[in-house]
Parts: sequence; structure tokens; C-alpha cells
Amino acid sequence: MSEPEIKVLLIDDDRDDYLTFESLLSEINARKFSITWASSYDRGLELLQYSIFDICFLNHELGIKSGLDLLSEITTRKLELPYPIVLLNGYGEFDVDLEAIRLGAADCLVRDQVTPYCLDRVIRYTMFRLKQKNELKDRDAQLLIQERLASVGLLASSLAHEIGTPLGVIRGRAEYVSLRHPDDQQIKKDMNILIGQVDRISKLIRSLLNVAKGEVGDSLQQLNLSQVVDEVYSLVSQALQRNGISFINELGNKLDISVLADSEPLQQIFISLFSNSIHAIEAAIESGRSSNHFIRIRSEEVDEIWNISFEDSGCGISSDHLRNLFRPFFTTKGIGGGMGLGLALSYRVLETWKGTMQVESSVGVGTQVKISIPKARR
Ligand SMILES: Nc1ncnc2c1ncn2[C@@H]1O[C@H](COP(=O)(O)OP(=O)(O)O)[C@@H](O)[C@H]1O
Ligand SMILES: [Mg+2]
Repeated sequence: MSEPEIKVLLIDDDRDDYLTFESLLSEINARKFSITWASSYDRGLELLQYSIFDICFLNHELGIKSGLDLLSEITTRKLELPYPIVLLNGYGEFDVDLEAIRLGAADCLVRDQVTPYCLDRVIRYTMFRLKQKNELKDRDAQLLIQERLASVGLLASSLAHEIGTPLGVIRGRAEYVSLRHPDDQQIKKDMNILIGQVDRISKLIRSLLNVAKGEVGDSLQQLNLSQVVDEVYSLVSQALQRNGISFINELGNKLDISVLADSEPLQQIFISLFSNSIHAIEAAIESGRSSNHFIRIRSEEVDEIWNISFEDSGCGISSDHLRNLFRPFFTTKGIGGGMGLGLALSYRVLETWKGTMQVESSVGVGTQVKISIPKARR
């Protein structure tokens, strides 16, 4: 199988240099390249920000500015480029090379000494090293999530213990009151509600424990997702109204959306999503975008999966934050605002059901959370 073409960006303000570089690349037979040439600092910066390449070669001399200036601008703008940058240094000064590496360059070459062979090596090795580095980073992030989930587990088990006892007392008293007033239907009804709610809390804590331990709950069942959404909607409808948010429910033929899940956690996932969207819309309103706010939910059936999209017109999420969303305890809300567990737990719960969650967002426009949940077999 032929290897895919390698997309190379060359930032160099000299046309002759570009032509030389192009001919050097064309002499490498083992790989095919497509070159994009940026002939100025500004054009280079623009391409780095908005296009994707496999590798970038950056000339140190760029008119008034230099390659080092561009490298430091990349750092200041926090552009985390997913590909390596190699500095082409006309004179090979050691201190320039050192500074370039410090600023994140993957390697440096003395321009006049570049041969097709050395270019090929540098391309292969810098791309490989970066790939390895990213894999390590992903593994570290995964480890951190595991560690934090372990602390969620600890929290949940102490919660289960601390809350379990008083809950038991409340439940027992409710049953007792009910028994003492056998003829009072109203009391009986109220006490049953109390008992029902207590059972719900206990169930939720149990699910939280299971999730933290990475176990699939033993109560996976066939659930009607629209019904769950309707129930959650009734809990949040006041907050929606207060903020003038329209809820656009496009779940389609409601009876069809039957998923294999666990009822309390599924409800909790939608409570988290609604509450995040409401917070985000409140933030958008505060920043001056005051009208036409909505939360829209849609469903799509793909083979054995239901894809659900939950979209809002809120403040959006910066790419920096997007990377951290599923980390337990990651929150941008101040004290009392949030625990940073909503998405982390939702993600984890979905994982145990063999579902997934992805988030796409655009700052100042809104956010779309995409969930997939396996269908229940009928
Ligand atoms: N719909 C959304 N719009 C904008 N930001 C969001 C949205 N959902 C989540 N976030 C961001 O992700 C962070 C983590 O969310 P979450 O795990 O639910 O924790 P919490 O809501 O307690 O902060 C939030 O603090 C917020 O910054
Ligand atoms: Mg939340």
C-alpha cells in the first residue's frame, strides 16, 4: 500500500529558497509530499492557525521578523500544533537553535547543508517523536482520570455510608407514620412519595459507586429515552422559562427511542446536560447575547445505536477547556457553582453501557453534546 502524502508547510519569504526546498523534497523517492508555501510571517501564522499539516519548516529569516518571533507567537497564542516545526537556520548559530528548541521547535537544520537524505530523516523522526509524545500525553491524561475516579469512588462510598444511615431512618419513619394512620389516604400518599424519593437517592448512590468502580450496573433495562427526557424537562422547565430559553424537542417518534440503560443515571445525564446548557446560556446572556436562546434535542438511528444530539446556544467552550471536559472535578464555575463531575460521570456511565459522548463547541455560538447509546433489542 502506498504511504499517504505528507503535507508540508514552508514558511520562507524567499522564492528561490522555496524552489530549492521543493526540488530537495522531490528527490526523496520513498514518500510523496504536497507543499504549501507561505511567503510571509503573517501568512505563515494564518496557515498555522487555520490549516492542518504533517510538518512545518520555518525559515529563521523572515524580513523584519524572525522564525524565533513566530515560535514565540505560537507559544503566546497557545496554539498547540499537532505537528512538528523544524527551524531552517541560515547560519546555524547555536544560540538561535537552542532558543528555537526551547520555544518548541522539534529540530533545527542549517539551510545550506540540507540534503534530500537528511530532510527525509528529519521529517520521519520529528513526526514519529511527536506522535510518541502525544500518545504518552494521552496515557497520562487517562491515568489522571483513573486516579480521580478512584477518589470519586472513595467519595461515593463514604457518602453511601454517611447518607445511607439517615436515609434508612427517614424511610423507616415514613413507613411508621403510614402504618399509624391507616385510614388517612393523604398521609399514605405523602409518605409513599417520601419513600419513593429516598429509594431514588439510595439507587443513585449505588450507581455512582458502580460507575466509580467501573462496573456495569446490574439494573440495565429497556428504557424509553423520550420519556426520561420529558421527566427531566419537567424538573428544569422553570429555569428554562426564567431565562427565556425555548426547548426544541425533535426526538421524533417518541416510542421508538428505546435504549439499554440504567434509569437513575440516564436521568442524571440529562439533568447534567440541561443544567450545563442553562448555565452556558445564562453566561451568554450576561455577555450581551440576550435573545433567541434554545436547547435542542434530536435523535438519529444508526444500526444498533441511538445517536442523540443535545445542543445549546450558550457561551460555548474554548478549545483549551474542551480537552478537559471529561476530567473529574474540572469546572469553570466558581465556588458553589459546580463540582465538575457532571460530564466526567456521564462519560463514564455511558462507557459502562458501551455508549459514547463527544462535545463540539464554538465560543460565542453554542455547544453540541453528542451521545450514543446502544438500542434495546426488541
Ligand atoms: N453546554 C455547555 N456550554 C458551555 N460550557 C459547558 C457546557 N457543558 C459543560 N461546560 C463546561 O464544562 C465544565 C464541566 O462541566 P461539568 O462536568 O458538568 O461540571 P460543572 O457543571 O459542575 O462545572 C463546566 O464548568 C463548563 O465550563
Ligand atoms: Mg455540570
